[in-house]
Amino acid sequence: MKFISCTIVAAVVACIPVCSALNISTTGFRDVIISRSTGNKSICVAGYLNVPISVNGTKLNYTVPATNEASTETMVEILQITNSLTHTAPIGTQLIQGNYSIYSRLCLPDTAAKITNIKTVQVLTHGITADNTYWDISPGYSYIDAATDAGYATLSYDQLGVGNSDHPDPIQVVQAASQVAVTHALVQLLRNAKVGGYHFQNIVGVGHSAGSILTQAVTAQYPRDLDAVILTGLVTNSYYLAITQASLNMVNANSQVSGQFRDLPAGYLTPQTEVGIQFAFYRWPNYDTAAFSRQVAHKSTNSIGVELTLGGLLGPASSFAGPVDVVLGANDLVSCGGNCTHPQNQAAAFLSTSYPNASPGSQTFIAAGAGHAIAAHKSAGDSFAHMIDFLQTNQIS
Ligand SMILES: *[C@@H]1O[C@H](CO)[C@@H](O)[C@H](O)[C@H]1NC(C)=O
Ligand SMILES: *[C@@H]1O[C@H](CO)[C@@H](O)[C@H](O)[C@H]1NC(C)=O
Ligand SMILES: *[C@@H]1O[C@H](CO)[C@@H](O)[C@H](O)[C@H]1NC(C)=O
Ligand SMILES: *[C@@H]1O[C@H](CO)[C@@H](O)[C@H](O)[C@H]1NC(C)=O
Ligand SMILES: *[C@@H]1O[C@H](CO)[C@@H](O)[C@H](O)[C@H]1NC(C)=O
Ligand SMILES: *[C@@H]1O[C@H](CO)[C@@H](O)[C@H](O)[C@H]1NC(C)=O
Repeated sequence: MKFISCTIVAAVVACIPVCSALNISTTGFRDVIISRSTGNKSICVAGYLNVPISVNGTKLNYTVPATNEASTETMVEILQITNSLTHTAPIGTQLIQGNYSIYSRLCLPDTAAKITNIKTVQVLTHGITADNTYWDISPGYSYIDAATDAGYATLSYDQLGVGNSDHPDPIQVVQAASQVAVTHALVQLLRNAKVGGYHFQNIVGVGHSAGSILTQAVTAQYPRDLDAVILTGLVTNSYYLAITQASLNMVNANSQVSGQFRDLPAGYLTPQTEVGIQFAFYRWPNYDTAAFSRQVAHKSTNSIGVELTLGGLLGPASSFAGPVDVVLGANDLVSCGGNCTHPQNQAAAFLSTSYPNASPGSQTFIAAGAGHAIAAHKSAGDSFAHMIDFLQTNQIS
């Protein structure tokens, strides 16, 4: 176990005032960078964790879309009424196995007393087209600030094939099953004190959108992994999948003029414009425009392997008995067609169908005026306060 001393981090300006006062460990991380959360409530250790996975994935009979025309045709064929690619491409199973570098960020409260008392870590899993920064967008729009201020640790990360994490084959390797395996493996690392050397009593899974699908799948496949879950931006139906895909206008990421995805193979896709991101995930004027711009600047990639396999994860987590919190933006287009209380509360509907045996302490929340990207809307503070209150009410502190 190695602990930061002022010499190791001397080059990192942000740590100098605190490194001698706080006992912060970087166990498990490679290429460590110390930073503060955007609202300055926490001190964070970021770097690469080695994450071993070994999981049965799907053998896909699918040729990489070398051009944007081919990517667009793929989206149409995923959504078409008969012979959908999600049914015709899978032709068997195959083992997906490897050690992957997952870019992760462990954030802690910034006082020695609070660090000593940490009992719970929250594992934060972002949605498609976002990266780990969704959880720490800007002051007031940072769930990491809210959680660490309340005495929790958080672990946010870039999914496999996203941001700074490894980008293996986007068809045969970066699939829904491998993302679930990564999240499960991160939980195992935390349980075994291999992330920062901390022993946590409780691990809470917090997801957004596709990250909620992955977190929910962990509770279905490994019901003892997580002590509680908070799922944001996820409902039971997929009625609005087509409108979402159409608005995002996914193109081969390497074709973007901005160039940050230049070296990625075809099969990694990204939304073509920020208009599509607004259309799908934001409701004007109820979001913070600076938070929106910051998320657009961090737009990420999704793989065709995930596009073709994510739907296969959906199903109830009947063996999960912990508390579940479901949070939806009141006016979320992609989850609810723009009204999450129509014809009934969609958060409550999701909770009862997906978690038939959840603890009676389970809750739901509808975030006023928010679209899909709850954390960037003006009601974010209310959503975060609700999420923390849900955990505290369930004695997970
Ligand atoms: C620092 O943290 C480590 C691991 O949690 C612990 O073993 C050690 O006693 C702590 N040291 C101090 C000075 O608190
Ligand atoms: C952030 O918080 C630390 C510790 O409380 C403080 O020393 C520092 O000045 C703060 N930075 C900013 C930019 O407010
Ligand atoms: C993959 O599936 C096979 C057949 O169902 C099973 O025997 C094997 O244990 C699975 N492997 C993994 C890594 O889950
Ligand atoms: C893969 O798909 C092509 C058509 O796209 C088809 O001709 C071929 O038989 C398929 N291969 C397998 C193994 O199913
Ligand atoms: C991952 O790395 C460990 C340690 O080097 C090794 O034992 C293991 O076989 C590797 N796993 C895979 C799936 O490559
Ligand atoms: C949402 O739907 C509910 C139930 O149908 C309705 O009462 C409410 O007025 C709708 N809200 C908006 C903003 O359309």
